[in-house]
Amino acid sequence: MGTATPTRSRILAVGRAVPDRVVTNEDLGVLMDTSDEWIQQRTGIRQRRHVGADCGATDLGRIASEEALRSAGLGIEAIDLVIFATLSPDIDWPASAALLASKLGARRVPAFDVKNQCSGFLYSLACADAAIRSGRARHVLVCGGEIHSSGLDLTTRGREVGVIFGDGAGAVVLGPSEDPGRGIFSVHLHADGSNAEKLWLEAAASRRRPRLLPEDLGGDDPKAFPRMRGKYVFKHAVTRMPEVIREALDHNGFTLGDLDVLVPHQANLRINQMVAASMELDESKVVNNIDRYGNTTAASIPLALHEALADGRVAPGKLVCLAAFGAGFTWAAALLRW
Ligand code: COA
Repeated sequence: MGTATPTRSRILAVGRAVPDRVVTNEDLGVLMDTSDEWIQQRTGIRQRRHVGADCGATDLGRIASEEALRSAGLGIEAIDLVIFATLSPDIDWPASAALLASKLGARRVPAFDVKNQCSGFLYSLACADAAIRSGRARHVLVCGGEIHSSGLDLTTRGREVGVIFGDGAGAVVLGPSEDPGRGIFSVHLHADGSNAEKLWLEAAASRRRPRLLPEDLGGDDPKAFPRMRGKYVFKHAVTRMPEVIREALDHNGFTLGDLDVLVPHQANLRINQMVAASMELDESKVVNNIDRYGNTTAASIPLALHEALADGRVAPGKLVCLAAFGAGFTWAAALLRW
């Protein structure tokens, strides 16, 4: 636990993990009626990664977390809180965060899941930031991890969703910022559940008896696979993301011109290009890696951040905005000085 209340928290290090198995658009074309051209034109995705059997979200999360801890120069004993963002937990319950913490060697620290889909990483970051600012925790591990491949309908029936998602994990270690000019300035969170059915996984569900029926896996529109109204989601994403990015900048007295790097959630390259164009933000300031990983939901922002750190786009002193939109609908942005 912290001894003094720090002014703000800072991301100390980032880690990542993706499965070795590359699944190209051509590979999917063997399983369903789709094409490399269709997928690339609509989404910018060329390939994604899929795990083999017996790999849960926390197995990838563990590798990403270990890298983040190593880079931060900290052992697991320094971590006061573990937050795992996922829509694909290893099992329904208990929380995968507890499983992750245990795999990392932490047996007593608080650990909880944040199930907030594509905004899950930023919701988790807000919790970590609050815990550090308040002095409740000194170091927090936030990991976003997803195994989509075991839950997708990889036939022509599920192609609109099936081609988009990939497996992966990204993790960050946060701690108090020693330098008052660096760290997380603010995190802005929003949700509108009236659009839940526009992008959702309806079964298994506690409101139904039994929660899962045999027909949920079959028929024209199976409830046990994610379903999406693609165009509707797209329209909301390109409206809400610029709104929340501006909200984060305004709140801290910055303008778009001050922003060095935008690390957006990787849902669709076209969404990120449209967001940049509508804000007149130079595309060179926007980090995109969806071409190689698809949409990894709660893992996409730390995966992209890891890449931008490695190639120097994110570096000390840079003003960085992280932004997301996804199922719920939920949307969020964090503004920070690296
Ligand atoms: N391969 C080939 N054809 C496909 C396909 C695929 N993988 N998936 C859908 N299609 C077909 C549809 O069946 C439909 O056919 P129809 O016109 O005969 O009915 C047609 O392609 C739809 O094409 P279009 O209207 O041009 O699609 P789109 O431009 O809306 O693109 C998405 C579809 C899903 C790529 C797009 O809507 C999207 O990205 N939405 C946002 C999704 C998102 O971001 N989700 C996650 C949020 S976190």
